[in-house]
Amino acid sequence: MTIVVTGAAGFIGFHLCGALLRQGHHVVGLDSLNDYYDVSLKTARLSILETNTNFTFAKVNIADMDALTAALQPYKFKQMFHLAAQAGVRYSLENPSAYIQSNLVGHANILEICRHHDGFMHLIYASSSSVYGGNQKIPFAEDDPVDRPVSLYAATKKADELMSHTYGHLYDLAQTGVRFFTVYGPWGRPDMAYWMFTRNLLEGRPIRIFNNGDMRRDFTFIDDVIEGLLTILEKGPVRHDKGANPHRVYNMGNNRPEELLHMVEVLEKATRRTAVQKLEPMQPGDVKETFADLTAIQADYGFQPKVSIEEGLPKFVQWYRQFADL
Ligand SMILES: NC(=O)c1ccc[n+]([C@@H]2O[C@H](COP(=O)([O-])OP(=O)(O)OC[C@H]3O[C@@H](n4cnc5c(N)ncnc54)[C@H](O)[C@@H]3O)[C@@H](O)[C@H]2O)c1
Repeated sequence: MTIVVTGAAGFIGFHLCGALLRQGHHVVGLDSLNDYYDVSLKTARLSILETNTNFTFAKVNIADMDALTAALQPYKFKQMFHLAAQAGVRYSLENPSAYIQSNLVGHANILEICRHHDGFMHLIYASSSSVYGGNQKIPFAEDDPVDRPVSLYAATKKADELMSHTYGHLYDLAQTGVRFFTVYGPWGRPDMAYWMFTRNLLEGRPIRIFNNGDMRRDFTFIDDVIEGLLTILEKGPVRHDKGANPHRVYNMGNNRPEELLHMVEVLEKATRRTAVQKLEPMQPGDVKETFADLTAIQADYGFQPKVSIEEGLPKFVQWYRQFADL
């Protein structure tokens, strides 16, 4: 079976493509290979995927509808994972147009492609826990109000969910949106705190701790995420009522928020270094806490994350040492 994955050279896309290839699928990966972070990390991921002859890659910007249409024209597919996006909360204050192009125009183009593709059955796309903004009610549940985003990144992810809802309603396009909660692991993203802390610890540099450490994050290990996505592919889309809108949104987190300072302790132990901490105020656009209610995804897909940060972060550190040759 041919499955399309956008954002294939990205962190989650790379792991997902690998898992799909191991299941014997033909994977068509798309990515613009943009330089938001070191492109050599993206090409290193791709060179691993390209050792499998069932993997086909096209460098394409999903905001360019003509290029996107041409890249997918040779293939017949029924399912697509749409993970390409401009990620990162803080960068959305610096370069808003990257978010408008990739996340809004790009998502709309993907919806149009899927709507018009003969025999298409299921679009699984990435949303984000950031849509919950500064919500006080925890844990965050899918039917909580999310119309007060605190960053443009969050606003674009919520807008994607709204566009998807409309395509479900108007065109019966089956879709599953997944709100990821701080996904981490080997081959991760250099803009994320756990990566920067590890690098700085190993290089003997101070680490910047925002909001004086008063932050909690629901950290989700990449293997748990990939298992969850494969289950959604296999069992989905779940339709509760005949004739109901076939678009659903789920949290995918760990249901276990960790104190930021505890995360630092786990990294100190894994690196065998002591952090020099620079305590700083809260960053604009950031949120104090994320905490996923997993009731819906457990009921529909039996999603049960297994990996704690005590197990997952040392795996990242071990990978990072090899990757950075430290
Ligand atoms: N990693 C997390 O903790 C997390 C949390 C919440 C949501 N998400 C979402 O999950 C998805 C995957 O995230 P990730 O962590 O793998 O990020 P990533 O940045 O590693 O991967 C995204 C990939 O998309 C590509 N891309 C960006 N704009 C593009 C465009 N216009 N056309 C084609 N390709 C484009 C990038 O080059 C990159 O390789 C994203 O949608 C992200 O917003 C991730």
